[in-house]
Amino acid sequence: MKRSIAPFGNEIISLRLIEESDLEKTLDWRNRDDARVWFKTSNLLTLEQHQAWFHRYLNKDDDFLFVIEAEGKMVGQVSVYEVQWDKGCAEIGRFLVAPDSSGKGYMMAACKALICLCTNVLNLQYLFLEVIETNDRAIRLYKRLGFLEEQRYSGLVRMGLSELTKTLK
Ligand SMILES: CC(C)(COP(=O)(O)OP(=O)(O)OC[C@H]1O[C@@H](n2cnc3c(N)ncnc32)[C@H](O)[C@@H]1OP(=O)(O)O)[C@@H](O)C(=O)NCCC(=O)NCCS
Repeated sequence: MKRSIAPFGNEIISLRLIEESDLEKTLDWRNRDDARVWFKTSNLLTLEQHQAWFHRYLNKDDDFLFVIEAEGKMVGQVSVYEVQWDKGCAEIGRFLVAPDSSGKGYMMAACKALICLCTNVLNLQYLFLEVIETNDRAIRLYKRLGFLEEQRYSGLVRMGLSELTKTLK
């Protein structure tokens, strides 16, 4: 059973756990041609597949997907998953911005809030992500957040972030 996490944020955005009523909108973002090409599974998904994923997700306590809200509307999503509670580490990803909210700094603010939540609420010490090596826009964002390249394999770059509290200063 998934634990509940209260909405969390900063002066720019807030993060709240995804709900069933968000699925149509998040699927529209995910299925856009210019977004899905950057995911490891890049085929078009149906609403039924997305709903089936959501029902499996609800039973997992190592997987949290947050909708980002700013100025009263949904502007994107971020996620932390594969949480290893005993080791204090997790993967972050599923970053997606709503098409009309891109390039406004919301994702930067959302990633900072996610890192803060992982540190202060989930008590994690190490985060990593995987990104397709040609996704320059995403890689620029991750570097600005303090992520460092750790490995390259199969067209992916693995980037890691340790000393989480230090990064937020
Ligand atoms: C990667 C992604 C999440 C980044 O979102 P974004 O909206 O571009 O992110 P931000 O606005 O926070 O920051 C990105 C750019 O906006 C600029 N920016 C930041 N704050 C800004 C502000 N207040 N006003 C205007 N521009 C701003 C940044 O300088 C940055 O510019 P750059 O790309 O030239 O470096 C988005 O492009 C996306 O959804 N891509 C498709 C899916 C994807 O690739 N996901 C990642 C998989 S690993």
